Amino acid sequence: MTRIIAVVSGKGGVGKTTFVANLGAALAGMGKNVIVLDANLTTPNLGIHLGIPLFPITLHDVLKGRANIRDAIYDHESGLKVIPAGISLRDLRGVDSSSLPNALLDLLGAADIVILDAAAGLGREALAAMEAADEMIVITNPDLPAVTDALKAVKLAEQLGTKTLGVVVNRVKGQKHEMRREEILGMLDDISLLAEVPEDINVQKAIAARVPVIHHKPNAQASHAIRRTAAALVGRSYFIDKPWHQRLFGFLR
Ligand SMILES: Nc1ncnc2c1ncn2[C@@H]1O[C@H](COP(=O)(O)OP(=O)(O)OP(=O)(O)O)[C@@H](O)[C@H]1O
Ligand SMILES: [Mg+2]
Repeated sequence: MTRIIAVVSGKGGVGKTTFVANLGAALAGMGKNVIVLDANLTTPNLGIHLGIPLFPITLHDVLKGRANIRDAIYDHESGLKVIPAGISLRDLRGVDSSSLPNALLDLLGAADIVILDAAAGLGREALAAMEAADEMIVITNPDLPAVTDALKAVKLAEQLGTKTLGVVVNRVKGQKHEMRREEILGMLDDISLLAEVPEDINVQKAIAARVPVIHHKPNAQASHAIRRTAAALVGRSYFIDKPWHQRLFGFLR
């Protein structure tokens, strides 16, 4: 059975695309057949995060009825499959996000998990991703504006019948002014906490290198947090595989 999971935030810029690229790469690294799809039709950048060159067939062609979605699948070197969106302004003309749920039906059976990178906000584009998915992960930063918008996403998912798996709190610095874990979960109707991903400069370095941070810097704190989330999502445990000298040092201490 193919699981379709949308990653949604409400507020823009909180880390959806970064999380989708890395969660997908982590699941693919665990042997899962994963497709990540850029459902951000107006300002797509999943392909940029993954270093994908311009691809001849995109989601825009599919939504315009010019191609089948299975022909828009790009094989990334990491084993991850990617359905990029068209990045030119011309691609935008005549595209209708409401046909996304229908287009995705042709992907059933083509992967274990399809992860949708939703657009910012809760407008038509983000709604289409939520409608197309069976499950949703809501992502936020530990601040009031982001959590307020995340709550709207949770409520909207409820209305659409999309199951919220839980929340990922991204860019946690552990500073005094940040919202605390309990405050965030309390505001979000006590949904599950899937992960707290720390603020990590390696994430930004990886984006500049157009490589998922879990590959660019496997031992970065953010990489561990994302791989742990991936493992939990498919019911596996996650252990940090430290080199022998670090394990010995930890034991002696
Ligand atoms: N854990 C992190 N540590 C440090 N920087 C991060 C982290 N996560 C994301 N960022 C930074 O935040 C920026 C925005 O992230 P991203 O593009 O993934 O957000 P988004 O929610 O997809 O944005 P949009 O709503 O515009 O689609 C990244 O370019 C990166 O610089
Ligand atoms: Mg994005």
